[in-house]
Amino acid sequence: MDVPIVDLAPLRAAASPDTVTATVSGIDRACRDVGFFYVVGHGVDPALPDELDRTAREFFALDEREKATIAMTKGGRAWRGWFPLGGELTSGVPDRKEGIYFGQELAPDDPRVVAGIPLHGPNLFPARPPALRAAVLRYLDEVTAVGHVVLRGIALALGLDEGWFAQHLTADPLVLFRIFHYPPLRDEREWSVGAHTDYGLVTLLRQDDTGGLEIEVDGSWLAAPPVPDSFVVNLGDMLERMTGGRYRSTPHRVRNASDRDRMSFPLFLDPGWDVDVRPIPGAAPVDDDGSGRWDGASVHEWSGTYGEYLLQKVGRVFPDLGREVLS
Ligand code: OGA
Ligand code: NI
Repeated sequence: MDVPIVDLAPLRAAASPDTVTATVSGIDRACRDVGFFYVVGHGVDPALPDELDRTAREFFALDEREKATIAMTKGGRAWRGWFPLGGELTSGVPDRKEGIYFGQELAPDDPRVVAGIPLHGPNLFPARPPALRAAVLRYLDEVTAVGHVVLRGIALALGLDEGWFAQHLTADPLVLFRIFHYPPLRDEREWSVGAHTDYGLVTLLRQDDTGGLEIEVDGSWLAAPPVPDSFVVNLGDMLERMTGGRYRSTPHRVRNASDRDRMSFPLFLDPGWDVDVRPIPGAAPVDDDGSGRWDGASVHEWSGTYGEYLLQKVGRVFPDLGREVLS
């Protein structure tokens, strides 16, 4: 089985229902069978991810002292900034990656920031290279917009109104964005990112041409190799929960077995912080206590707001941050 490719152009053109039929049925099939697909025809100028890649590599090449001027410990509750190699424990063991966490850029006097809501705040941008800031902010805008197009397609695929997600979950979405740098692995036992599922609605990932992303479908691991000028889209736990498991939040992992530095750029378009994520109309309840899952936690048995769900996950992958800042 291959990871399908979906052309978003018809959906972006706000076309009539019959011109999007093929796109929508392609999305439906991908969401049921694989939980992953590539999108092309997304409308993002390739110069933008190229600029981001170039400036990010320049940042990661700086010495640790300079990178630490935007260390995650300085981002506090907003969960922003740089973490060093081995700083994140996706699947209980340190990943061989370093990265920078970003999110929606909020002013210090934004009511959500003033109220101290975790994961909301201003970003930390490095002084060098100066062009990274503009590239990140533009990328956040443009790729978030692509995410909303994907959600329109998913709504249609589920037989809902195309604006269903915007109305119920993403009027004020939580948007998180990361830049990761994966040096080559040193031995067989290491992971670039351990196996996990994503937490929210949809992830849109730009990967460079190195490869190494793998996804688990029906018990076997498949490669999701680079496809030029595409984003890899995958579904998060909230979509699986809302659809009673009809759409999949597929486990995935990364091994950079090459001898080059891999870069990736995942953007997470998630429900608003206070949204209580419930099954969509007509989704049958499922029997799943989580025992077969990668972290033993069922997304179906849990209840609460998206913010609560996310905090508990963040505390697990960044234990110090969880203990000292977010609790
Ligand atoms: C993630 C993830 C894959 C990659 O950040 O959740 O799965 O290629 N990243 O960086
Ligand atoms: Ni992931």
